[in-house]
This record gives sequence, structure tokens and C-alpha cells, in this order.
Amino acid sequence: MKLFEVYSRYEIEPVKGSGSWVWDEKGTQYLDFYGGHAVISIGHAHPHYVDLIQKQIAKLPFYSNAVPNALQEELALKLGQLSGHEDYQLFLCNSGAEANENALKLASFQNGRKKIIAFKNGFHGRTSAAVNTTDNPKIQAPINKGFEVEFHEWEEPESVWESLKQKDVCAVIIEGVQGIGGIHMPKNSFLEKLEKQCRKHDTLLILDEVQSGYGRTGNFFGFQTSNIRPDLITVAKGMGNGFPIGGVLIHPAIESRLGMLGSTFGGSHLACAAGIAVLDIIEEENLIRQAAKNGKILMEELRKFKGVKEVRGRGLMIGIELPFPTKALRNYLLYEKEVFVGSSSNPNVIRLLPPLTIDTDEIDIFLYKFKKSLKQARKGQLI
Ligand SMILES: Cc1ncc(COP(=O)(O)O)c(C=O)c1O
Repeated sequence: MKLFEVYSRYEIEPVKGSGSWVWDEKGTQYLDFYGGHAVISIGHAHPHYVDLIQKQIAKLPFYSNAVPNALQEELALKLGQLSGHEDYQLFLCNSGAEANENALKLASFQNGRKKIIAFKNGFHGRTSAAVNTTDNPKIQAPINKGFEVEFHEWEEPESVWESLKQKDVCAVIIEGVQGIGGIHMPKNSFLEKLEKQCRKHDTLLILDEVQSGYGRTGNFFGFQTSNIRPDLITVAKGMGNGFPIGGVLIHPAIESRLGMLGSTFGGSHLACAAGIAVLDIIEEENLIRQAAKNGKILMEELRKFKGVKEVRGRGLMIGIELPFPTKALRNYLLYEKEVFVGSSSNPNVIRLLPPLTIDTDEIDIFLYKFKKSLKQARKGQLI
């Protein structure tokens, strides 16, 4: 059987990882400033992570949600403490799309409405409801278009307030920091007014923290520079450092009902062991503070580079906008300089999403290699 080809892939196959580095089968070492789509939060093959997973797989990797699971309780407790949302409730699932799917469903259960407000260039996943709220018609099949979604401009909130006044909007879904769209941060004043307007019109506010959550931006959640309490917060990616796990943090005012949501694999013993290990390491190694500090250093240095149009972001979620398409530069970085970086739906933007564990030596190596590559690109030799 051959693979169903849906991915455009690099020609390098990492077979081993440690910290901020991966190796291919020939033993060539690559600096990972991409973290496999922002997934690697605590670094590759962290010993504590490996240890907890190994112990759990040997003990009991899975039993269904038909029985109590103390590991789910432990994960929820720790997540509540570290994120500052101890009074929220946690529903566990397996991916970012599934987290958003369940958040949208919960919102609709809550107010009985169907219309969703989302934002231009936003990405919320590829499952049925989540993909309908994603601003990319190419990945939506006719079957996904089961409810109305209004896509509003990122910087033009007035149309959002107008729409909310109609009192028929089920939920607003917004990324804490827009990732795939090219690293855009909602203004704090916008988020705060959005929360108020949503409350006023009985609309639920969903913060998609799948990419921007878990310490990446220098706060546990991207939205935490503002003073809001979303109704629903979705997480995945960095939550399991590569082990598939996702979750919805649910405001205490939302009541559960048995059978309302569910998943066979969601919150499995093994997934929880991975999730607990990640939180242990984030806490013990002060990774949220590290992300804020190292992100600042990186962005300050990158802003000094000639030919860079804009550097934006928070913590270790960084977008570098150049005045030309970045594909050739990204390829050069990977194939000639052995550095993985990310792309974005804006062809001129490179995304940096390194593990939160990067150190200053690794930042220096990256800056050195990036500077050399950028020079080549500016000379027009890569385009
Ligand atoms: C903001 C955001 N939401 C949701 C998703 C979907 O996550 P998953 O691929 O785990 O379904 C992604 C994935 O890139 C994302 O960046």
C-alpha cells in the first residue's frame, strides 16, 4: 500500500532528536527552530518525559473513560495551577482540531445558536466544524459547510460589534496569537472589548491557544497579556511535546451533562503521563520565563538585520517578514545551513517556533546562520 499523498515534505528525515537538535540517518545534525509545527515545547527526548512515558507504557498505557483515571485529575490540577485557571474544567481529547470541534459544539449546546465569527487568515484545524471556521476554502469540503461563518478583518473590530448585536452569533473563535496566518497579535483592548461584547450578547468567546499556548509566548496562554476570562480555551501541540493530546478548558459557569462530549482515546493514561511530564518540566525549568527572555533577545537581534521588513511576535512565537518570498531562503537554511524554520500562509513570512528550552548558544548559532543565509538571499542568489 502506498501513502495517500497530502503533504509537501522536505527531503530530510530526522531519525533522532535531543533538546533543540535533530539528526538524519547519515548523522547530520540540524537545529530545530520549527519544533515540528510548534509541537516541541520541552525539547526532543527530555529525560523526564521519556521516563514517565516509559514507566506508564509498561504499567497501563490505556483504559477507557468508563473508569476513573487519577492521571487525568493530576493533569487537570497541574494545568489549572500553571495556567492560572484553577477554577476551569478540563475536557481531554487528542488534537487541536478536535479541541476546537468540541469547543464549538459546547458553545452551540450552551446558547442553541449556530453562527460563528472567525477571523481572516485564521486556522483552527481540519475537522468538520473547525475547518469551517478556518479561512481557507481550499481545505473545506461541501460537507464541512453546515453552518454560517463570518470572517472578519483582524484589525477592524467594528464589524464584529455590529454582527454581535444581531444576537444570533453562537461563538467568536480567535487565536491567542495568529500562527499560520503569519504571527499577528490581537490588541489587548480588542480582546477585552470582545469579551464584554460577547457576554452582553450571550455569545461565547473561544480562545484557540493550540499554537500560542503552553508557555510559548512568554505567558502560559497568548491572551494573558490582556485581562480576559474566555468561556473556552483550546490547547494541543506543546501540551504533549509530540504525544497526541488536546484539551478544552471550560469556564466554571458552563455545566457539564453526562454524555455531552466524549472520546475513546481522549485522556488515556499514556497521554496524561506525557502531559504531566511536559507541565513538570515547564515548571521546574522555568520555561515560560525563559521563553519570554530568549524571545526578546532573538527579536531584538533579528530587528538589526539588514533587509528584514518586520519582526513580530511574543516569546518564542516569532514571525520574520521579508520583502520577498522566503521559500528559497528556508530551503537554503535547511539544506545548506542545517536549520529547520517554519513557513506561513503569507509567503514572505518565516515562523520561528523553537523548543522553549533553547539556550543563548543555540540562539547565537541560529542568528549567525540566518544572517549568512539572508545575505545570500538579498544578493538575489537564492530566488
Ligand atoms: C491555531 C491552531 N488551531 C488548531 C490547529 C489544529 O491542530 P491539529 O493539527 O492538532 O488538529 C492548529 C494546527 O496547526 C493551529 O495552529
